Amino acid sequence: MGTVKLKINGKEITVDNSLTVYQACRLAGIEIPTFCYHPKLTIAGNCLMCLVELSTAPKPIASCAMPVMEGMEIATQSPRIKEAQKAVLKFLLINHPLDCPICDQGGECDLQDLTMAYGPGTSRFKENKRSVPEKNFGPLIKTVMTRCIHCTRCVRFAQEVAGVSELGGLYRGENTEISTVLNEAVTSELSGNMIDICPVGALTSKPYAFEYRSWELEHTDSIGIHDAVGSHIRIDTMGREVRRILPRQNDDINEDWICDKTRFACDGLRRQRLDRPYVREQGRLTAVSWAHALASASHLLKSTAAETVGFLVGDLLDLESMYALKGLANAIKGTHIDCRQVPEFLPVKERADYLFNTTIAAIEKADACLIVGSNPRYEASLINARLRKAYLHHDLPVGVVGPAANLTYPYDHIGENLNVIQDLIEGKHAFSKILKKAKKPMIIVGTAVLRHERGAALYALIQQLAKTYNVVQTQWSGFNVLALHASQVGARDLNCYPARGKSLIERLQAGAIKVLYALGADDLAPELLEGVRLIYQGHHGDRMAQAADVILPGAAYSEKNGLYVNTEGRVQQGVRSLFPVGEAKEDWRVIKALGKELDISLPYNTQEELREHLYAHYPHLQETFTGQKACRHGLYELSHLPQTTTVDLPIENFYMTDVICRASETMAKCVQEFGKIDEERMGTHG
Ligand code: SF4
Ligand code: SF4
Ligand code: FES
Repeated sequence: MGTVKLKINGKEITVDNSLTVYQACRLAGIEIPTFCYHPKLTIAGNCLMCLVELSTAPKPIASCAMPVMEGMEIATQSPRIKEAQKAVLKFLLINHPLDCPICDQGGECDLQDLTMAYGPGTSRFKENKRSVPEKNFGPLIKTVMTRCIHCTRCVRFAQEVAGVSELGGLYRGENTEISTVLNEAVTSELSGNMIDICPVGALTSKPYAFEYRSWELEHTDSIGIHDAVGSHIRIDTMGREVRRILPRQNDDINEDWICDKTRFACDGLRRQRLDRPYVREQGRLTAVSWAHALASASHLLKSTAAETVGFLVGDLLDLESMYALKGLANAIKGTHIDCRQVPEFLPVKERADYLFNTTIAAIEKADACLIVGSNPRYEASLINARLRKAYLHHDLPVGVVGPAANLTYPYDHIGENLNVIQDLIEGKHAFSKILKKAKKPMIIVGTAVLRHERGAALYALIQQLAKTYNVVQTQWSGFNVLALHASQVGARDLNCYPARGKSLIERLQAGAIKVLYALGADDLAPELLEGVRLIYQGHHGDRMAQAADVILPGAAYSEKNGLYVNTEGRVQQGVRSLFPVGEAKEDWRVIKALGKELDISLPYNTQEELREHLYAHYPHLQETFTGQKACRHGLYELSHLPQTTTVDLPIENFYMTDVICRASETMAKCVQEFGKIDEERMGTHG
């Protein structure tokens, strides 16, 4: 790769020779209007909004589609270009409706903004405008296709990033229409991103239709918690409610995208909320004061032998809440703390044993990938999008051991039976050659492997495979565990699991737990709670709250400042966008107050003090994340596996994985609509 020199508006600059003229102009700080160009998509060059003058060309050129060349002389603001920009907008507006007052894109519309900045101001076209019938893009995307300017960003996004071929252009010339195949819904888990990249109001958010103008909303930068990716998001609130969630660009994690669950499940934050404390009296949950609820919880804890009290941390928690609960458990000498709501093997000898060590961005550098017992498309959609990107950019060969799934890129299904890993180790499978040849191979171990009853043996076997193919090197760490939940890595970092002996689930099964303190844990099997008095602290009236004896209302992620560790081990800060609903409080405050009731003085009064304590005990959580580094792994013992060892993927329904999703009407509509499509497709193809 070399550099070239060119002149832009008379100023000479030197740029990388892989850039386009548009990118060179941006580097030089010059604004060029665009519609169809998007930095994360292939170049279409079809809107002609980015015209510039090249001294040697007879006509203006589309700068987004023209590579830089030595000695080019570019003019971006000549009278000719200004006329051309006006003309492009004039033609785009021939058929564009005068919808701005009722268009959801108003205020954040590229067409509106560029027309104001570069447009003609008046139009001489008096002819009738064409109209295009609405299309069915499903329960998440509202279409007003008359507003479409045929930039094809949505089509390219679907094909390139989402990996679904459900969108395309119909007809030609002025009859062109963008449509889904057979007018069926877009079934991608990333479909909401099309709303963001549509430069006009042709695709807007269906659940958010006609709600608020962008300038009416308060914006808060935060972190997504519906999976362990740690996507950067912006929470938009109005009054005391979250109205929408949008992605923030972070090229190391989620690039410009978020998954539909992170984006659209936000209506679940408004429903089924626990807004005051409850205590079960005469078999019924009764609303009570905080003092009453704390006294009841304290009585339960005080009147029960410490060795029969269990503490369970849930899936959506911040570090501070878990650290506070651990402090409380230690203070009352409760040793049974756990972060598992279903039986699972915990590889925790070294931190790298449970992290996604390759890092999300470095997936693009991998030259072979083996996925074992995981469907990353539903477990971590943005990691799956990265794998697809690596496949598109350099044909990343992917092998899958375990259940087959539609991952949006081709892969070699090595086998359903995990014993095939032994064949891979012995070089008996064709994929062994790919692993052997690879300089930067990576393995992704899914939760399904750890949840298998022989999870420890499977993990050790995969480690042996990693060793055989030099997956962990000094400059490359290719051994990864893909975490499923936002608090999963944090809970392991804070040692929220029994150091030795039985897991909390095993103790519950054995009837050895009399009182369970469940902090944000909503997915425990109900039969485990028989004969157990339950203190539930959380934000939604879901299954666990219904079974509780005492309910302490906590804050959802949008209502508290909190640290989260993503699957790579990156510590990130979620920021409060609203105060907790009703009488609910941030979790650490509730635990602090309960400590007071129990005559335990937890050594902090503010969240800052709590964080100082946390950092003092776990200094690595304060370190700046540096990405790929040489990782030390623990050694796990190999043992014999049965002839047939199959695993079940942990996510059956992508849209219903946690309490917020379960409370969301939009997620329920997705389940209904996409379930129907799946059934029809099974009917047609199965
Ligand atoms: Fe107005 Fe933009 Fe909507 Fe068109 S797409 S009606 S220009 S806000
Ligand atoms: Fe472009 Fe939007 Fe039309 Fe898709 S629907 S082609 S993104 S204007
Ligand atoms: Fe260059 Fe559309 S932005 S042609």
